[in-house]
Amino acid sequence: MVERLLIVGASGHAHAVLALLRRLGTHRVMGLIDDTRPAGGLVHGLPVLGGVADLPQLCAAYDFDQVVIAIGDNGRRQLITDQLRRRLPQLRWPVLVDPTAVVAEPARLGEGTVILPLAHVGPGARLGPGCLLNTRSSLDHDGQMEPFSSLAPGVHCGGLVQIGERAAVGLGASVVQHVRVGADTVVGAGAVVLDSLPPQVVAHGVPARVVRSRSPLEAYL
Ligand SMILES: CC(C)(COP(=O)(O)OP(=O)(O)OC[C@H]1O[C@@H](n2cnc3c(N)ncnc32)[C@H](O)[C@@H]1OP(=O)(O)O)[C@@H](O)C(=O)NCCC(=O)NCCS
Repeated sequence: MVERLLIVGASGHAHAVLALLRRLGTHRVMGLIDDTRPAGGLVHGLPVLGGVADLPQLCAAYDFDQVVIAIGDNGRRQLITDQLRRRLPQLRWPVLVDPTAVVAEPARLGEGTVILPLAHVGPGARLGPGCLLNTRSSLDHDGQMEPFSSLAPGVHCGGLVQIGERAAVGLGASVVQHVRVGADTVVGAGAVVLDSLPPQVVAHGVPARVVRSRSPLEAYL
């Protein structure tokens, strides 16, 4: 059965999620929800139906109970998810896995997790909720991604790596086996992480070094 769904977000990441949903063919996307665009306009060929505050009325009007939060920034994705969970407890949060991605058995994917084309999840891995594996990223065997963490395109994580809550690993970075990236830490593009990183820092370079601290909701994209 094709289920009705709304996408929250209208950015480039929402475009990638929409393309994934079209490949899957499992959902009918009713429109986009975005606080920064006027309702009634078209984005990525879909109508913007309103902002997050309008969701309760939209739920009734469009008869849907599934939502995907297509916001690339991890802190904001969690914030909006938490708001909606409180206000609309009946909502369901599908796990979306691109048909070209490989998810080994056994692996656990939390609700609302999105896995984009050609990504890889190794056996014994645990993700989510609300995680994001971008195009061609890989979390190898027995890895863990805590809630709302993300791997940017082309990231490689060795076995048993742990990515803390809301932590973001940047474009093309590599994280060697057994390393932990602390909660709310951002790893810069192209970094090679050889040792565990503490929470709430920015680190980059080869090998990766901590360059400064960061606060959990600080924008990084
Ligand atoms: C690390 C990052 C978050 C920026 O951190 P920041 O502390 O705000 O850094 P700034 O942009 O102020 O740059 C500060 C310095 O760090 C350097 N720098 C920034 N990012 C770097 C990186 N990834 N590797 C090496 N050096 C980097 C800058 O060149 C600058 O150097 P300078 O002082 O000699 O001029 C960002 O550069 C980055 O890599 N983001 C990830 C992007 C990404 O993965 N996007 C995914 C889209 S799906």
